[in-house]
Amino acid sequence: MTRVLGIETSCDETAASVVARTDDGAPAILSNVVLSQIEEHAAFGGVVPEIAARAHVEALDGVIAAALAEAGLTLHDTDALAATAGPGLIGGLIVGLTTAKAIAAATGKPLLPINHLEGHALTARLTDGLDFPYLLLLVSGGHTQILHVQGVGRYGRWASTIDDALGEAFDKTAKLLGLPYPGGPSVEKAAFQGDPARFTFPRPLKGEARPDFSFSGLKTAVRRAATELAPLSEDDVADICASFQRAVTETLADRVTRSLERFRKAHPKHAHPALVVAGGVAANAAIRNTLETLCANEGFTLVAPPVKLCGDNAAMIAWAGLERLEAGLVEEDALAFAPRPRWPLDAGSDPLYGAGKRGAKA
Ligand code: KG4
Ligand code: ZN
Repeated sequence: MTRVLGIETSCDETAASVVARTDDGAPAILSNVVLSQIEEHAAFGGVVPEIAARAHVEALDGVIAAALAEAGLTLHDTDALAATAGPGLIGGLIVGLTTAKAIAAATGKPLLPINHLEGHALTARLTDGLDFPYLLLLVSGGHTQILHVQGVGRYGRWASTIDDALGEAFDKTAKLLGLPYPGGPSVEKAAFQGDPARFTFPRPLKGEARPDFSFSGLKTAVRRAATELAPLSEDDVADICASFQRAVTETLADRVTRSLERFRKAHPKHAHPALVVAGGVAANAAIRNTLETLCANEGFTLVAPPVKLCGDNAAMIAWAGLERLEAGLVEEDALAFAPRPRWPLDAGSDPLYGAGKRGAKA
């Protein structure tokens, strides 16, 4: 059995986890501890990098100890360490990666510096045992992109946002409607009571051949509607949220279809093509339902990992480390590996905003 301890500190979750490949070849999550800093940042309406870094320093040792205890292991029982080395907020990355380096130096275990996006990209193999190749739609506060996942370390970015990330659009919409942070769950909750047909917000890039995403025009349209109606009643807020969410789901369906078509062309003999959805926004039920229907219509299977593993966590980092260890993709001088605030998974594609970028969501 191979066991890897993973550490994640790239944004506002301090997380540690132990995952394993059991002797019969099955993946297993032995522990998964996630300490959210939401309360520390709520008053500011977004993640404050300096507060995040300090909170990671204070919490990380305890979170690692908790992950080991939950797994019933000591450090010496693990085979390797994996830590997020980027992309993300530099303060947090330094805290997690340096801690992992210290443990690796003290125990002599190998250290795997992990790209946070690779963690999201490989999660479906941990949860669903998915085989390569597949498509990944990553929708979070810092990223909106579609990746062609061909193998460990082999990723192609097929689409990306040209402006805001989708989670960012939810967060900004919530903020301008006076809804609490984090915005995504607040907007979704308000939308349940609202009329999605009351406002016709734009569907950015809908119908265009390029496969990318854009959300800033949608946010601007929401702002205009809110300003015209001010002061907003509870019904107005609910209707705006429902109409916003409808615009988002329709836009997503249209944009994602481009990449499903491309995947079909790239792999005409693939009998069971799959689309994986990951990132915090994947918790949204309306978005999941839309993707479910789209995939059913296009002959794809939608794989949506449990919500706890869609948002940021360390199990995905430990798992990416385990996959890299098994594939022999181990950094020669990991102790000298510098954290990378920007680190696109697919170095070959054009740098677009939203790819390899994570930053303050405010
Ligand atoms: O993956 P994640 O936990 O952290 C990042 O890497 O950003 O994603 C957080 C993002 C936030 O923008 C949050 O508002 C959004 O995911 N989110 C949601 C929902 N739950 C979280 N967006 C829409 N609907 C939700 N239910
Ligand atoms: Zn993430």
